[in-house]
Amino acid sequence: MHSPFVFDLIIHVLNDHQKEPCFEEIETIRQSLKKNHDEIEVEDFGAGSAVIKSNKRKISKIANSSLKSPKYAQLLHRLVKYFRPKNIVELGTSFGITSAYLAKGNSDAQLYTFEGASSISNIAENNFKKLGINNIELINGDFGKTLPPFLEKNMPIDFAFIDGNHREKPTLAYFHELLTIANDQTIFVFDDIHWSTEMEQAWSAIQNHPTVTLSIDLFFIGIVIISKDFKEKQHFKIQF
Ligand SMILES: C[S@@+](CC[C@H](N)C(=O)[O-])C[C@H]1O[C@@H](n2cnc3c(N)ncnc32)[C@H](O)[C@@H]1O
Repeated sequence: MHSPFVFDLIIHVLNDHQKEPCFEEIETIRQSLKKNHDEIEVEDFGAGSAVIKSNKRKISKIANSSLKSPKYAQLLHRLVKYFRPKNIVELGTSFGITSAYLAKGNSDAQLYTFEGASSISNIAENNFKKLGINNIELINGDFGKTLPPFLEKNMPIDFAFIDGNHREKPTLAYFHELLTIANDQTIFVFDDIHWSTEMEQAWSAIQNHPTVTLSIDLFFIGIVIISKDFKEKQHFKIQF
């Protein structure tokens, strides 16, 4: 491994298998969502779920198909714990499982999480209450409507997890929009970078973007860093 930065990341973040008390609390909520067969009316916003298409959906089906698995959600938690970002953005809250992991990674951070479907975001809000989390602001509505006023505030973001609307154009648009409020160390994490040809194309364009100096392909997620500390562009593929 030529990069000391990536070497440290592998040792301290990727290969850290310690369980934390909050993992069990959050996973208990995931399990109860998976057992909840109530139906909710859901607006369909993007290509995120390959499994479910109808507008009435069972909570259990969404919980089984749309949320990041414990392995990846816990990795996101460790990334936040390691890098200590202050302002975090998550596009695609769903039931707030990964949001909870992100928020609990740094209690000094503020997480701004965006979700379009109000029936889903109501459940997420309730989960944040159950977990005693108070560093999350949930912004409800279509990203197309909620992101522009957020960007206008010009608040620099340190970490962004893009996990909604898994198509090429919207993914690239969110990246470009969020870049306008990125600082010179911002970390972006993109979900499902190999999920479809469109997402492959989006990931390739992101890796090749002039601001991106380091990219790490973990197959199910892609991490990019725009820090100028890295003199030349480097791309890594790491088995996780
Ligand atoms: C894959 S899920 C997010 C999962 C969550 N990050 C987790 O791991 O627990 C994607 C969510 O993004 C929302 N979404 C997709 N496109 C959207 C859009 N254009 N505006 C608002 N919400 C959107 C969907 O309603 C869905 O709940």
